[in-house]
Amino acid sequence: MAQSKKVALITGANRGIGFETAKQLGEQGVTVVLGSRKLSDAEAAAAKLKSAGTHAYGIQLDVTKAADRTAAYKFIEEHFGKLDILVNNAGIAAGDFFTNTTSKTTEDELKSVYETNFFSVVGLTQQLLPLIKKSDAGRIVNLSSILGSLALHADPKSPIAGSKLFSYNSSKAALNAFTIHLADELRNTPIKVNSVHPGWVKTEMGTDAAPMEIPDGAKTSVAAALLGPDGPSGHFIHLGQELPW
Ligand SMILES: NC(=O)c1ccc[n+]([C@@H]2O[C@H](COP(=O)([O-])OP(=O)(O)OC[C@H]3O[C@@H](n4cnc5c(N)ncnc54)[C@H](OP(=O)(O)O)[C@@H]3O)[C@@H](O)[C@H]2O)c1
Repeated sequence: MAQSKKVALITGANRGIGFETAKQLGEQGVTVVLGSRKLSDAEAAAAKLKSAGTHAYGIQLDVTKAADRTAAYKFIEEHFGKLDILVNNAGIAAGDFFTNTTSKTTEDELKSVYETNFFSVVGLTQQLLPLIKKSDAGRIVNLSSILGSLALHADPKSPIAGSKLFSYNSSKAALNAFTIHLADELRNTPIKVNSVHPGWVKTEMGTDAAPMEIPDGAKTSVAAALLGPDGPSGHFIHLGQELPW
């Protein structure tokens, strides 16, 4: 059944930046669908938000599974008839961010990281695009990373020069290419597609060494999800600042 209230799907929403993004969007009056690999995790996360007054739903969505992506499409179509916001948040890293072992990176590691961070994002976004086109202000937010910046990696003096984890970094560079290409294809529509860098955030991936707390780490995703009609598309953003590709 179609409805006018904004509806968002957030992947990897059971913990970390994804859960916090769902929480903050819910606080802004958005109906949130929380995707998680395990249905029980999705339902538990949605229940926490529901108890705080948010319209929240939990669905099983392992982004690497085509059947889960199709089920997500059907769930959103049947419940809402449209999708206003897609936050492609789920992501993985394999290996050590601070030891450059590019020459030894295995094909298995590359395939596994790309499966989650790149191919699944492309697949899910393509599948949901017909529902996003039914929104009057569709927003697609791709959780990239400053570590996906080729321009910064090419500069030995840049602050990220010492963080050359090839599988993760290149998967985010590929994701950035998807952002640029899809934003261009959709340039004459109301849909905005952006890559965001949340910052280095204290999550399981970011570790306790990270300087940013999770509520601040979700701010860039939330801002990109709620961009107004004059907001950017095809950009790479961190807390309102442009990052170099
Ligand atoms: N934290 C940082 O400093 C940082 C910096 C730059 C970019 N990022 C990006 O921000 C995003 C969120 O990161 P985070 O720090 O919140 O990570 P996190 O705490 O490790 O959480 C990752 C989330 O992704 C989910 N996930 C992993 N594989 C999945 C799959 N196949 N299908 C569905 N969900 C899956 C995890 O679910 P399970 O609980 O089932 O494992 C979890 O909910 C990622 O894309 C990451 O690359 C993070």
